[in-house]
Amino acid sequence: MQKNFVLISAAWLTLCIAAPPAGRAQEANGAKPKTAGEVFKNVTTSSLKGLTVDDFIGAMGVMAGALAYDCSNCHPGAGFDGVNWVVDSMPTKVMARRMIEMVATINKSNFGGAQMVTCWTCHRGQEKPATELQLDKLYGPPNDEPETVVPRDPRGMPADQILDKYISALGGAEALSKLTSFIATGTQNGGYERVSGGGKASIYAKFPDQRTVLVSFPEAAQRGNQTRAYDGKVGWINTPRSVLGEYQVTGTELDGERLEAELAFPGQIKQVLTNLRTGYDDTVNGKAVHVVQGAGPRGMLVTLYFDKQTGYLVRLIRYGKTPVGRISTQVDYDDYRDVNGIKFPFKFMFSWLDGRDGFQLDEVKTNVPIDPAVFGRPRKAVKN
Ligand code: HEC
Ligand code: HEC
Repeated sequence: MQKNFVLISAAWLTLCIAAPPAGRAQEANGAKPKTAGEVFKNVTTSSLKGLTVDDFIGAMGVMAGALAYDCSNCHPGAGFDGVNWVVDSMPTKVMARRMIEMVATINKSNFGGAQMVTCWTCHRGQEKPATELQLDKLYGPPNDEPETVVPRDPRGMPADQILDKYISALGGAEALSKLTSFIATGTQNGGYERVSGGGKASIYAKFPDQRTVLVSFPEAAQRGNQTRAYDGKVGWINTPRSVLGEYQVTGTELDGERLEAELAFPGQIKQVLTNLRTGYDDTVNGKAVHVVQGAGPRGMLVTLYFDKQTGYLVRLIRYGKTPVGRISTQVDYDDYRDVNGIKFPFKFMFSWLDGRDGFQLDEVKTNVPIDPAVFGRPRKAVKN
């Protein structure tokens, strides 16, 4: 089954129309966000109905990913005007609901409620899980799929030292402590296969925890801007192809946006995560790396991969918890260059369950004033 990112994004659009604007305003005022069970008409599993709306849709992405499905494999008309998310007309949707309950039961009765079994545990990208081992695999290379929860390497370099090495590779704690803001500009590509020509990217960041990534499409202005904004408290995502595809993130994606905003100022990396530990060494793109894992709010897990030779952070994977499996988001960093005594990755790839965005920076300006509106609700903020 071919995964179709465009279809999934069209789904987001519909979702945004479904979410009442009054609810969003309430959330911005600090009221409790509405649950999926309250917002949607036919969400009945005890596992999913208490989730925030964005985590619920994230869980849909986790299920789709585990079976190499897209939304239309369980929802009739998904990706087209006639989409109906509510009906249970497709046997796959009915089966999926049973599977959600089954997974919850397995975890409750065997693992004390810990999320040990997920859709991926059995499906591994297949509609029907394989039941027998292929002998070619038995005598072939070992299965090296890593565990998400990184086991501690008792002989690994202490996490503190790995982070110190990273800080000094970037220019040292002293130089980093003087970084109060930056504006990075460049290009975006690789995200949306159907559109030729990349976007124009601007990344705004202000110490300690504000960050906005804004992508515009000068050659296809009708697409609108794509924005991820976090103002230190409230987070927004604005999707490109939609008329009003703007929504506030209230679930694990909010924690993820905060993390990336904080790590934009790497001098504070030691304070951002708890329970830091070193895993066994690994490789990323052929380079030997140190592996460090830490925890964030609401069960978020974060794995950081540092190049053993240069000390640079080359990969970050953050995992937001849902009852059907974790929502993975990955950022790969490359091409570190010096800007006024501090190294910045001029190249990075942002991958999530619904697509990929590659960024190539041309310029980074440090310690510049930034209009605070840039970090707020995208439609009210300035455009680039
Ligand atoms: C493997 C099947 C499966 C896939 C793939 C899937 N869904 Fe679902 N979807 C479900 C099930 C099952 C429910 C009901 C969950 C419940 O009752 O708790 C549901 C419910 C929904 C609802 C709530 C509708 C309402 O008002 O009741 C929305 C919205 C939704 N899905 C969106 C999506 C999107 C967007 C995608 C693609 C990213 C997607 N789904 C992919 C199985 C699936
Ligand atoms: C313990 C293993 C296991 C887990 C965990 C599991 N499944 Fe399944 N699933 C199966 C098996 C086995 C089948 C095939 C059943 C059959 O062919 O009758 C299946 C079939 C399905 C089908 C029907 C596919 C078809 O061909 O029509 C859907 C949809 C599905 N699973 C969704 C899910 C979702 C979503 C999750 C996570 C919430 C999940 N499954 C978790 C074992 C599992």
